[in-house]
Amino acid sequence: MNLSDRIAARDVRITVVGLGYVGLPLAVEFAQAGVRVSGYEIDPLKLEILRQGESYIGDVPSDRIRPLVESGSFTPTRDPGCISQSDVVIICVPTPCVNGHEPDLSFVQCAGRTVSENLRAGQLVILESTSFPGTTEEMLQPILEKSGLKAGQDFHLAFSPERIDPGNPTYGIRNTPKVVAGTLPDATALAEQVYRIVAEEVRCVSSPRVAEMSKLYENTFRHVNIAFANEMALLCEEMGIPIWEVIEAASTKPFGFMPFHPGPGVGGHCIPVDPQYLLYKARQCGCDLKFVELANEINEKMPVRVVEKVKDALHERGKSLDGAKVLVLGVAYKKDIDDVRESPAIKVIARLLKAGARVRYHDPLVGSFDNGVGRFESVDLTPAALRESDCVVICTDHTDVNYDRVIAHGSLVIDTRDTLRRRASDGKRTLLDV
Ligand SMILES: NC(=O)c1ccc[n+]([C@@H]2O[C@H](COP(=O)([O-])OP(=O)(O)OC[C@H]3O[C@@H](n4cnc5c(N)ncnc54)[C@H](O)[C@@H]3O)[C@@H](O)[C@H]2O)c1
Repeated sequence: MNLSDRIAARDVRITVVGLGYVGLPLAVEFAQAGVRVSGYEIDPLKLEILRQGESYIGDVPSDRIRPLVESGSFTPTRDPGCISQSDVVIICVPTPCVNGHEPDLSFVQCAGRTVSENLRAGQLVILESTSFPGTTEEMLQPILEKSGLKAGQDFHLAFSPERIDPGNPTYGIRNTPKVVAGTLPDATALAEQVYRIVAEEVRCVSSPRVAEMSKLYENTFRHVNIAFANEMALLCEEMGIPIWEVIEAASTKPFGFMPFHPGPGVGGHCIPVDPQYLLYKARQCGCDLKFVELANEINEKMPVRVVEKVKDALHERGKSLDGAKVLVLGVAYKKDIDDVRESPAIKVIARLLKAGARVRYHDPLVGSFDNGVGRFESVDLTPAALRESDCVVICTDHTDVNYDRVIAHGSLVIDTRDTLRRRASDGKRTLLDV
């Protein structure tokens, strides 16, 4: 049987390289669909947790993983030998930035070398990690061809951007359309067939460069629109107009409008990072991306603005930020997830500490975090903890927080997410909503 027939019969073996926020849900989805999956991961702690049938990703409960691991449908491993035993290899390793704005493709290069060393004829390799156009064909392909095998001739190569939205209860792998493109039509067709096992809709595009750019376009669109919402929030604050009500009103338009919301800044592994990949590539092409530059500038100043707001509000009450007790609510980069990567709350905390504030935090999903300077542990959201605080700053609006308690016992609350507006009584302040 050729690869296409075997995919159709689900008689294929898939290795997912990198079992993080993207790779683990994907591996589990394929395994649940009846495909034998190996997860090649270099982090021994993650492997240990998975081998015990436990999960470290909020969206993938342990009771989904355990039966798959016990039955051998999903095998987490650090042995790269699983790659040569697979028909399809999907690379889901990180693509962060170094020095704030420079793309760091070292994880993709490293994973590519491991795949190359274990590559065999007839396999399909798919890159899912977000990167700029050209990464699949100009960077990954030469690394894979060091094996002596040629893409298109001996093995198939494709790119398919990951679109997972952690914490989203409505859209997951199954009902989020998948974009795919191979370096040649055969590879596109095989990649489409593979993803049809787990996704209801697959959109094939003409080249990996189109697929790579589509991912950067999506996330940069979001980055720019959030920056616009932030800028409008700052203007509305000056003019004494409640921005949230403005956005709610504009959202009643049934066409030509999509709401984005202001906040303490942007976080996560995508929104602050992906536009920098686009900027990097644009600069190489001699193009200015003024929207992206401006969005960076505006979004990056939001944590600073939050701290200024805390300082001003304390000052109005005759208190100084230096020495003030500040309780930060929510440190994850967005609602109802446990990921603190690039979180604006961490930037707010760093600035508060620098200004001399005594900072504690509460987050029902993040028990502790390390900001590179020290380790912080979440405190209980008790009435006493609220009463003792000179100021409470809501940075992330997790659902599982007792906001009535915050209203009842917090004397000064700066709300960067519009959480309290409908509940707040007199004396509560909300940032960007005077
Ligand atoms: N997190 C998201 O919401 C999201 C959404 C869409 C796209 N993406 C993109 O998907 C990619 C992966 O992101 P993530 O959030 O899953 O990252 P992650 O850090 O959560 O997971 C990556 C995993 O890869 C492992 N790894 C690193 N190098 C490896 C190697 N050489 N071999 C094997 N394993 C290796 C790491 O140990 C880690 O477990 C990135 O390009 C990201 O931009 C992420």
